[in-house]
Amino acid sequence: MTPRPLLLAVDQGTSATKALLVDGEGDVVASASAPLTTAHPRPGWVEQSAEEIWHSVTEAVAKCLTGHDPARVAGVGLATQRESCLLWERATGRPLGPMLGWQDRRTADRCATLLADGLGEPVRAATGLPLDPMFSALKAQWLLDTYDPDRSRARRGELCLGTVDSWLLWRLGQGAEHVVEVGNAARTQLLDIRTRDWDQRLLDTFGVPREALPRIAASTGPFPAVRGLSPLSDGTPVASVLGDSHAALFGHGVFVPGSVKVTYGTGSSVMGLIAGPDRAEGSPLCLTLAWDDGTPAYALEGNIRSSGATLRWLAQLLRTGEAELAALAAPDSAGVHLVPAFGGLAAPWWDNEATGLISGLTFGTGPPELARAALESIAFQVEDVVAGLDTAAGRVTTLLADGGPSDNATLMRLQADTSGRIVRRPLVRDLSALGAAHLAGCALGVFTKGRLAGLARSEDVHRPDRSAAERARRALAWHDAVARARRPGT
Ligand code: G3P
Repeated sequence: MTPRPLLLAVDQGTSATKALLVDGEGDVVASASAPLTTAHPRPGWVEQSAEEIWHSVTEAVAKCLTGHDPARVAGVGLATQRESCLLWERATGRPLGPMLGWQDRRTADRCATLLADGLGEPVRAATGLPLDPMFSALKAQWLLDTYDPDRSRARRGELCLGTVDSWLLWRLGQGAEHVVEVGNAARTQLLDIRTRDWDQRLLDTFGVPREALPRIAASTGPFPAVRGLSPLSDGTPVASVLGDSHAALFGHGVFVPGSVKVTYGTGSSVMGLIAGPDRAEGSPLCLTLAWDDGTPAYALEGNIRSSGATLRWLAQLLRTGEAELAALAAPDSAGVHLVPAFGGLAAPWWDNEATGLISGLTFGTGPPELARAALESIAFQVEDVVAGLDTAAGRVTTLLADGGPSDNATLMRLQADTSGRIVRRPLVRDLSALGAAHLAGCALGVFTKGRLAGLARSEDVHRPDRSAAERARRALAWHDAVARARRPGT
């Protein structure tokens, strides 16, 4: 009997690379991970090593496949951190300088100049994204300014610019091709979101020669096949590539507009599919391409800069652990609000001038109220973004949660009450890796979307238990605190 096929998923994230082996039933049969470091050489600078990222992939894959027959791996699915950007030499594959991480803000001044020159609107209209240092375009410009100031090498085709997926596809294929998956390309701020091709006006704005950019591929490829990644057989196909946030949406089984996923992490990503790019008109959220598996799937996404990071910050301040912080939280914040605008506020406000704020302090305020306010800040921020999806995707009734902080049952209950929506949290971990495996399985004929949508998922379900009037009262008080955070000094 032929052994049943397995799918190997790799989720290359900011703090670790995870590998997952998934069988034909969609069940996880093995997993492994390898940690990664991040450097902060100056305030606002966030760097990672492209070589270290590659080694973390080889390590996680080797560990995950230990005790399993690599010949059973029918294909590889790849999910990656998005927006981070690096430059390497085509001839040698040698990275020039560090990879600039997605949180890197060294280009904030350049961004402010472009905004002052009135480029915010045209860039948003073309890309679906607010002009911001988070996206790859300004990082690409910085890398080229630093390593090829006159662009002569880039124009001669000697240099490759890429996102993490592009870099890993280069290494997985031993330099066979410079290629990027279209959903990741959509986060570069160089792609026209409607034509799904590089936009010449944007390339001119950011000083990026087209010769340095990769071919844009659908999320199901074609991609170069794997070579030299032990113990996988050479020629194992890479069957899917997705941005990690997009992969989590796929992993939740969201294939049509309606449900919204919330990935809770250091920050949070809230994302839901929409019927087409025109449904994003007037939305404060980012229009993005979730994937293209023959049909482009458009999504709206809101990124929140600080959610798990808020809990970590407060835990350090109170000299306690993050788990203890949740246990410490009072049942009510007693009027205290914490607006975690540590690095400004992202969606839906996009306000880089906002500063962090704690309001409503009294002599009765103690660590339990602060802990509660920190948890509430996550739920309020998520709801502010979800509310922006209501009109584009119809009334959102269900939130699908994943990511580390979603383990916190208090937070999940709070989210249901704050949002007035059902919150479902699948018990399976690593939704991004799972989504990449599922899409790879669809591409290889192991799964169909219909079958994936019908898969029974073990999950925790939290139902809202707060009246609409009470929710509105609390939201008003929260928005009052947000308004103060956006007017420093008042
Ligand atoms: O947009 C950035 C995001 O893709 C990074 O994800 O999991 O590495 O924090 P993660």
